[in-house]
Amino acid sequence: MPDVKVTVVGAGQVGATAAFVLALHKTADVVLVDIDESVAQGKALDMMHARSVERFGVTLIGSADYHATSGSDVVVITAGLPRKPGMTREDLLRVNGEIMRSVITQAAAASPEAVFMCVTNPLDVMTYLAWKVSGLDASHVLGMGGVLDSARFAYFISQATGTPVEEVDALVIGAHGDTMVPLPRLAKAGGRPLAELLSPERIEEVVQRTVFGGAEVVRLLKTGSAFYAPAVAVASMVRAVVDDARAAMPSCVLLTGQYGLSDLYLTVPAVLGRQGVVDVPEIDLTDQELHALHASAAGVREGIHALERGDRG
Ligand code: APR
Repeated sequence: MPDVKVTVVGAGQVGATAAFVLALHKTADVVLVDIDESVAQGKALDMMHARSVERFGVTLIGSADYHATSGSDVVVITAGLPRKPGMTREDLLRVNGEIMRSVITQAAAASPEAVFMCVTNPLDVMTYLAWKVSGLDASHVLGMGGVLDSARFAYFISQATGTPVEEVDALVIGAHGDTMVPLPRLAKAGGRPLAELLSPERIEEVVQRTVFGGAEVVRLLKTGSAFYAPAVAVASMVRAVVDDARAAMPSCVLLTGQYGLSDLYLTVPAVLGRQGVVDVPEIDLTDQELHALHASAAGVREGIHALERGDRG
């Protein structure tokens, strides 16, 4: 059993489920942090009760105190509020921005060597904020959104083509929101390009269902948003880091000139390892795909500016 420690901040739907997946996979000892300490403790205890059945061996504890998180290898941040009726996107930015500032400052002080993985929405702006506020090297700050969006894309492709999902390759880049950029040109099912299997109209349907996949779940749940698929997406990225997998995964990372973009966080394929983001190799995109990526980036920049305007006002 590797001696690995992972902190998950936010013991809500996504955070607690991710913590449980990490325990079931025996990835690490987990500290679950929440402003509501009793909820964090209750969920950790409930998960520990499963230990004698699942024999996962690792420990889970709940706390509101960042001392308990010190020396973590990875810190996952899911703390935040969902958008409520009457709240504008800018209101949400402000509220979750305040939460992100407070969390990253305390968590980074306790675990200065950790890799920080943001999940709180709006993802791209929150990850940028976490990087700015913490002063950490950008290789140690990344966000989870693209693994989830790509998983949704893969699922819908598998359904549309009748191919087992394990045989589907699907990639989504760009912002984690309505302007995300699914790349059907690069998608394959059973080793065959999507264009050989589906009509352009059907491909467009699959793309649209992917883009609004999160909203579809929200509508069905009536309260709250998706958490099972987000949680396993988080756990898979944490595993890539702690195992030093050096595999490319769609990750929200700082762009420093790739795709003609810089000084913003956006999802593109990035190589993850023990040191966090090890490399951001550029993939070839068509002019149209690049144009869509830049449009997506423009939306993220607007969010960053809105946050900065809020700071000044
Ligand atoms: N410090 C620690 N925990 C906090 C803080 C804080 N400052 N503020 C809020 N929390 C906790 C809440 O108490 C709650 O337990 O964050 C948790 C959020 O959980 P949920 O409301 O269940 O939200 P969840 O569905 O898990 O989503 C969390 O991830 O996917 C994104 O859009 C989603 O931004 C949201 C985040």
